Amino acid sequence: MNNNFRKILTVISMITILEIFLIKIGNAQTILPQNADDIHIGVTSCAGSTCHGATTPWAGSTVLQNEYMTWEQYDPHSKAYSVLLNSTSKKMAENLGIGKAHEAKICLDCHADNVPQNKRGRVFQISDGVGCEACHGGGQRWLGIHVSGVGTHEDNVKAGLYPTEDPVKRAELCISCHFGDETKFVTHRIMGAGHPRMSFELDTFTAIQPAHYEIDSDYRKRKIVANGIQTWAIGQAIALERRLEALLDPKRNRDGIFPELVLYDCQACHHSLMEQKWQPRPGTGLGPGVVRFDDSNLLMLQIIVSNIDPKKGALLVQQTKALHKSTTENEAQYYAAAKVLKKTSSELVALFSRHKFGKKDVSRLLNGLIDRAKKAEFSDYVGAEQAIMGISAVLSTADRMGMKAAAKSAQKAVDKAFLALSKYDNWDYAGFKTAVGMIKPIQ
Ligand code: HEC
Ligand code: HEC
Ligand code: HEC
Ligand code: HEC
Repeated sequence: MNNNFRKILTVISMITILEIFLIKIGNAQTILPQNADDIHIGVTSCAGSTCHGATTPWAGSTVLQNEYMTWEQYDPHSKAYSVLLNSTSKKMAENLGIGKAHEAKICLDCHADNVPQNKRGRVFQISDGVGCEACHGGGQRWLGIHVSGVGTHEDNVKAGLYPTEDPVKRAELCISCHFGDETKFVTHRIMGAGHPRMSFELDTFTAIQPAHYEIDSDYRKRKIVANGIQTWAIGQAIALERRLEALLDPKRNRDGIFPELVLYDCQACHHSLMEQKWQPRPGTGLGPGVVRFDDSNLLMLQIIVSNIDPKKGALLVQQTKALHKSTTENEAQYYAAAKVLKKTSSELVALFSRHKFGKKDVSRLLNGLIDRAKKAEFSDYVGAEQAIMGISAVLSTADRMGMKAAAKSAQKAVDKAFLALSKYDNWDYAGFKTAVGMIKPIQ
């Protein structure tokens, strides 16, 4: 072998080793808890009083041990099955002609830990809803290891514990239910039957889910801890990836002669004709009367990428416009544009997993969001909604990084912006813009 060539090879393999060392986030292939082979032993198996069923946190234990109480009393996931018995669900099931909602696979797949019969342990109960193992993975193999306390977190993961601390894995998990995937999906027909509109942002939803864990010094020793803006960024990239997968999936992207409408901005169609408020949105390049692809994740990603790599940011802006333009052309061009963006979204997951999001990113991202709001880029509800959740993620990260004054001074404006968005059908765009305009950029 030629000497130079050998040198190059050594450098390449060194880079690869380094990369493996650096990218701790989102490593191995993902198999979601519902699709893995492990047996789900049931919430009851986790809820013993000396395990996770204590009434108050245990002093001296590495974990809180009252996780079950928190989940059972405050976490909506413990009610996810019982909502299938309420009048909305009954009406939905009737409208769809699917029998009983709490027996329909399509509903149970997201509202419970709906693993097949042969993967259900003796005390497993479907009525527990989105139980511990729906997120943490079937416990049969890791139960022993983690109770004995001899194994490390990695040992547990090898035995089937799902790594919920890893922001990539967490995004894949939450979004599989909070948007859907190739096995379960809320279509426009399900929405039409009465399902509530769904929205998701990983860092905000992680914060609203009542925490049954504490990120303290011993937690940091055991697990990866991504900060809020990295979590936000990764969540956006994976949400876009899933949306484009649905758009490119022939089983999900059409309904008869129409495209699957759930992939578009609902308010492109669902608004009153009495009040005509169309105005150009620079980022779409579209004229009036065109159904818009829901690009709210793209709007966030443009800001995040431009901050890390301005060239890639400009490219993403261009690719977004190309997707919008192609919706007015033909299907072939549309799917081609979507494929380009899907490739970009996967690259972004890798880029954000590597990037060390620090103080500089906090100020740039906040300023980017404020700046875009001024340019009328968030005039669609879905864009404004993602923007304010993004601003919250950035500000809470600022707070944790010691920029407390900036976070505190913005609080009133953030509350006002959320208030302006509180009525979906009659939201207050002017109020949202004014509120965001009141937030002071961080220098
Ligand atoms: C792809 C996953 C998914 C599927 C499929 C799905 N849902 Fe949901 N559903 C959700 C999520 C996530 C929420 C919470 C949305 C939110 O608040 O952001 C929800 C919310 C609801 C709510 C409102 C709950 C409340 O607390 O007010 C009802 C009712 C409901 N779903 C019923 C159904 C029924 C009936 C079916 C089957 C026809 C179904 N869902 C299918 C994921 C799903
Ligand atoms: C909707 C998803 C979800 C459900 C349901 C859920 N968890 Fe968690 N859990 C998480 C996330 C996210 C974290 C934080 C990231 C991490 O440490 O893995 C976590 C963390 C934990 C931790 C780790 C604390 C530490 O210090 O390492 C324990 C223990 C735990 N959960 C137990 C439970 C138990 C017991 C239940 C059921 C009663 C449950 N969880 C239900 C998502 C969930
Ligand atoms: C197996 C499906 C499933 C998974 C996985 C899942 N969720 Fe949910 N989630 C739901 C359903 C269904 C609801 C609605 C429950 C209800 O309203 O009774 C919900 C509700 C919520 C809510 C309350 C929303 C609201 O409008 O108040 C939050 C917050 C939430 N989930 C966060 C998360 C996070 C964070 C993760 C990932 C760590 C996650 N979820 C994973 C199915 C899931
Ligand atoms: C391309 C236009 C279009 C888009 C985009 C669209 N819808 Fe619809 N939607 C319709 C039409 C058409 C109907 C049927 C109206 C009827 O039955 O009278 C409908 C019906 C509905 C209904 C039932 C309304 C009723 O009065 O019974 C709901 C709820 C709904 N859509 C929610 C949504 C949500 C949520 C989104 C976005 C995720 C969305 N739609 C996106 C056109 C659209």
